[in-house]
Amino acid sequence: RTVYLNGEYLPETEARVSIFDRGFVMADGVYEVTSVLQGKLLDFAGHLARLGRSLGELQMGNPLSAEEWLTIHRKLVELNGIHEGMIYLQVTRGNPGDRDFAYPPEDTPQTVVLFTQSKPGLADNPQARAGMRVVSVEDLRWGRRDIKTVQLLYPSMAKMEAKRRGVDDAWLVEDGFVTEGTSNNTYIVKDGRIITRQLSQDILHGITRASLLRYAAEAQMQIEERPFTIAEAQAADEAFFTSASAFVMPVVEVDGVALGSGRPGPVATRLRELYLEESL
Ligand code: PDD
Repeated sequence: RTVYLNGEYLPETEARVSIFDRGFVMADGVYEVTSVLQGKLLDFAGHLARLGRSLGELQMGNPLSAEEWLTIHRKLVELNGIHEGMIYLQVTRGNPGDRDFAYPPEDTPQTVVLFTQSKPGLADNPQARAGMRVVSVEDLRWGRRDIKTVQLLYPSMAKMEAKRRGVDDAWLVEDGFVTEGTSNNTYIVKDGRIITRQLSQDILHGITRASLLRYAAEAQMQIEERPFTIAEAQAADEAFFTSASAFVMPVVEVDGVALGSGRPGPVATRLRELYLEESL
């Protein structure tokens, strides 16, 4: 695989980053994941806009222009022959040459890394036909989940807890309400209405979420942005989650309780089709 590191396209085995990199010792970095379908980037403008926002919230500059980011993404898709898959990008505060809690001087070069992951079958995913099962886990993450940082230990722990309990993913709960999934935004459907938590610092402002809610509104579907509980999810007709890598994924079981028919529901199925049609 060819990857990108600080201006160079290199074989992955030759891409090296300092052990003092702030991303490595402090999780001081932000990332984005953009999906590739039919060789095309999905929701690219949204991901780039959020990258700029995440960097700004951490007082980091954006090391590249929109045009440069696009060129690198396209080149990696081409060099690695990605038809279906994703591109990961990460920007860290760079290498201060030592470990220090204070940020290094502003002229310290940031570390910019991009790599691709090929995922054949991403669009026609059998899991989307079966639906996923989730369990609730307490949300113990920090208070700025709207910034897409590389600090992903708690989501990893929650994912492992879900696996230990024999299901696909965890829905995180704080003060009795679902915040989001380990790496996705969460929704329930009741009497035809789509219910999803409103944006705040408690959740990541999903790019797939923004696009999907726009498409759903255009299709005259009813949307309610408010928090919901696990009990409400268990009593819902349907549930699903969204992310750049899963698009719209039906959820058929929450904490051992099957939703509706126990199969992916018509609204989630329609929204998945709608998202794939509209964003391609
Ligand atoms: N995860 N919430 C969290 C905590 C996430 O990590 C993600 C994305 C989302 C969905 O955002 P978007 O629609 O912009 O992908 C919500 C990515 C895909 C990941 O970490 O792999």
